[in-house]
Amino acid sequence: MKVLVIGGDGYLGWPQVMHLSANGHYVGIVDNFVRRALDVECGTESLIPIYPLETRIATWEEISGNRIESFVGDITNFDFLTNAIRSFEPDAIVHYGEQRSAPYSMVNHDHALFTQINNVVGTLNILYALKEHRPECHLVKLGTMGEYGTPNIDIEEGFIEISHNGRRDVLPYPKQPGSFYHLSKVHDSHNIMFACRVWGLRSTDLNQGVVYGVETPQTVLDERLATRFDYDGIWGTVLNRYCVEAVIHHPLTVFGEGEQTRGFLDIRDTMRCVELAILNPPALGEYRVFNQFTEQFTVRELAELVRQTAHKKGLPARIVREKNPRVEQEVHYYNAKHVRLIDLGLEPHCLTDTLVDSMLDKISEYKHRVRVETIPSLVNWRMTNNPTRYIAPSRRHAEQAAGAKLPSEGDLGSVVSAHLRKQILNSRDGKVG
Ligand SMILES: NC(=O)c1ccc[n+]([C@@H]2O[C@H](COP(=O)([O-])OP(=O)(O)OC[C@H]3O[C@@H](n4cnc5c(N)ncnc54)[C@H](O)[C@@H]3O)[C@@H](O)[C@H]2O)c1
Repeated sequence: MKVLVIGGDGYLGWPQVMHLSANGHYVGIVDNFVRRALDVECGTESLIPIYPLETRIATWEEISGNRIESFVGDITNFDFLTNAIRSFEPDAIVHYGEQRSAPYSMVNHDHALFTQINNVVGTLNILYALKEHRPECHLVKLGTMGEYGTPNIDIEEGFIEISHNGRRDVLPYPKQPGSFYHLSKVHDSHNIMFACRVWGLRSTDLNQGVVYGVETPQTVLDERLATRFDYDGIWGTVLNRYCVEAVIHHPLTVFGEGEQTRGFLDIRDTMRCVELAILNPPALGEYRVFNQFTEQFTVRELAELVRQTAHKKGLPARIVREKNPRVEQEVHYYNAKHVRLIDLGLEPHCLTDTLVDSMLDKISEYKHRVRVETIPSLVNWRMTNNPTRYIAPSRRHAEQAAGAKLPSEGDLGSVVSAHLRKQILNSRDGKVG
């Protein structure tokens, strides 16, 4: 199949590109490198060095013999996106290309605006481009389990049967998202469902849990094929953060009560879930939702697993409770269904101390690169104008990102805030601020 991966330069997108290519699909990438540019803005950096997209693609071709096409640009630019889709003629689009950090979306007005415009406009553009040029193409869209929030009843896969005043119907499951980022995903879901119903498009909305891990069978083939590993307070996800904290002898920072429960999955399962969705497309006009995670844990359970595994390696890990910067329930019921991908053949990799042990080893190799000052979670959900201590890119970061081929002004489109655009363009030119 011809698969276009939007956001194919990101944490999940790049390994997904290789996974699909290794499994016989012809793959194209769309990306505008905004994620690399946002590292410049935030003063953050992947723990594991990542190579420019051109190097990644050339290395993959050298190793696998498989060609990958690339389209560099911003999907909020409708003409660019339309041309990419008309040129590539995909059978399926995997849409990873969004701003994906909840803390980033909660920094202030500027960041909330960027997140929602980037995500909602990007997805809406895809829907229009598909309707006009590729109506049979299957859109596989990455949503998040965070769209549901933490209701006091079981979470179904997208829809729930409700009886009300003696009548019954199957309706979209109620959403109680926890940040402006999560809200952008809910808005996307509504737009996609509408386009399937009204225009007859087909789509799978993958409500994904939190992904952990960094190695897939392809990323380990060559250091130039590695994917990013984030651990800081803006981009890092919980298990990755605890593992880095353990390696550098930093306390494992659990927010609030630590009973917050979420769905999790191994990065190798993400790769397989997306492939399963592509191989088993919905009918034209069908909008379906899969809950894409394999196990659920409280954050305290994860911290405890890391603490115990670290101790066995002689690392003196300890857990501390921190005031929760987020507004969320800290003790709650959580039971989310996740059977549809298993029914399609997913064989989950479960989280074990062996996996945590290997993550600790991998992180140890790069611990000299940890930027300790980026670890605290400084974005407070209760504030509308968080101090932007993050926006202090050093020249070193700017130079690194410039080497990663930052987007041109045209690629950034008109929706990136003037402030952010100036920083990105300055950093492209090797300037700071
Ligand atoms: N990482 C997780 O744990 C997780 C969990 C649930 C859902 N998701 C979802 O999966 C998707 C991918 O996540 P990730 O962790 O790989 O994120 P990422 O930030 O590493 O990758 C996203 C990629 O999309 C690109 N992009 C963003 N906006 C774009 C635009 N307007 N035009 C072109 N390219 C654009 C970025 O440059 C980046 O390379 C996101 O939608 C995210 O919400 C991720």
